[in-house]
Amino acid sequence: MKVFPKFVKIVEVGPRDGLQNESKIVSAKNKIIFIEKLASSGLKEIEVTSFVHPKIIPQLADAKEVISGLKAHKGVIYSALVPNMKGLERAINAGLKRIAVFGAVSETFTKKNINMTVKESLDVFKPVVQAALENGISVRGYVSTCFVCPYEGEIKKEKVLNVTEALLDMGVDEISLGDTIGAASPKDVFSTVGYIIKTIPKKNIALHFHDTYGTALANVVSGLELGITTFDSSCGGLGGCPFAPGASGNLATEDLVYLLERMGIESNVKLKKLAKASIFMEKVLGRTLPSKQLQRIQCKNNS
Ligand code: HMG
Ligand code: MG
Repeated sequence: MKVFPKFVKIVEVGPRDGLQNESKIVSAKNKIIFIEKLASSGLKEIEVTSFVHPKIIPQLADAKEVISGLKAHKGVIYSALVPNMKGLERAINAGLKRIAVFGAVSETFTKKNINMTVKESLDVFKPVVQAALENGISVRGYVSTCFVCPYEGEIKKEKVLNVTEALLDMGVDEISLGDTIGAASPKDVFSTVGYIIKTIPKKNIALHFHDTYGTALANVVSGLELGITTFDSSCGGLGGCPFAPGASGNLATEDLVYLLERMGIESNVKLKKLAKASIFMEKVLGRTLPSKQLQRIQCKNNS
């Protein structure tokens, strides 16, 4: 019998990863209602927006307005993506206490996503992380395209380790390894993540799965078997990256919460309350969200 972790931390990325890829721009007011519903479901870490170029991601151009409208909830941390010093200045100005820098392993993806080479991105992030820490802001780091790149194909695990180590050396406290286009299988997770945790403590690693090919939950189980205890997911299964063609929604938080509950793993997130946040967003977006649990809960509500 496998031994699984007793507790898993869920990092909710719906308001950022989810909404950045929606063709409809959601108002700041509705984003704030959405995030409040997420916070009241028991989620303790919510990535609420991005301080990126507003012309590139107009969906999140209202970052400051959204943050200024959020209530503080005991134990709930709000964070946002920051690609450079300009982004950090905006995050400090908005009063955030946690940010995330976001790099990748693939050169082509990095160029398309943030207009830098991988080395340039690390050179840009280093003073950003330092200045953030000096301002009392903690920093998460993303490593995208850890398994398959939409432009370069298969990714070597040694390269994933190089970028991960570079970010940790800067003072980033948690690295989220991303399956940006949702192409990985459990075999890839065992191979790449298994290799990373030979060098990097498991407590510093989070896994960020998209569900394009329907393998996200299987990948979570592989991560749990490896002893990983932090997973990113998105309410209702909203999501995708505009610079990763074919990347569909993130792993749905409802589906992750159900799996954990069924496996006897605590996450502190209340499924029914979470579903209320998704149902609200379905109304705002005017479309059905893909989470299986969300659909099941709505069927039950309607019967
Ligand atoms: P750039 O054009 O190379 O930037 O863009 P620049 O430094 O040359 O500056 C050009 C102009 O942009 C200047 O303005 C700057 O002030 C402005 P101008 O003088 O021309 O008027 N600028 C900014 N404005 C606001 N906020 C900023 C900022 N920086 C510069 N932070 C840049 C480089 C990184 C800014 C751009 O490429 C960008 O914003 N990219 C964001 C892309 C993005 O958000 N992608 C999605 C998130 S990543 C993801 O989804 C993957 C993840 O989920 C994990 C996974 O799934 O694997 C995290
Ligand atoms: Mg993502």
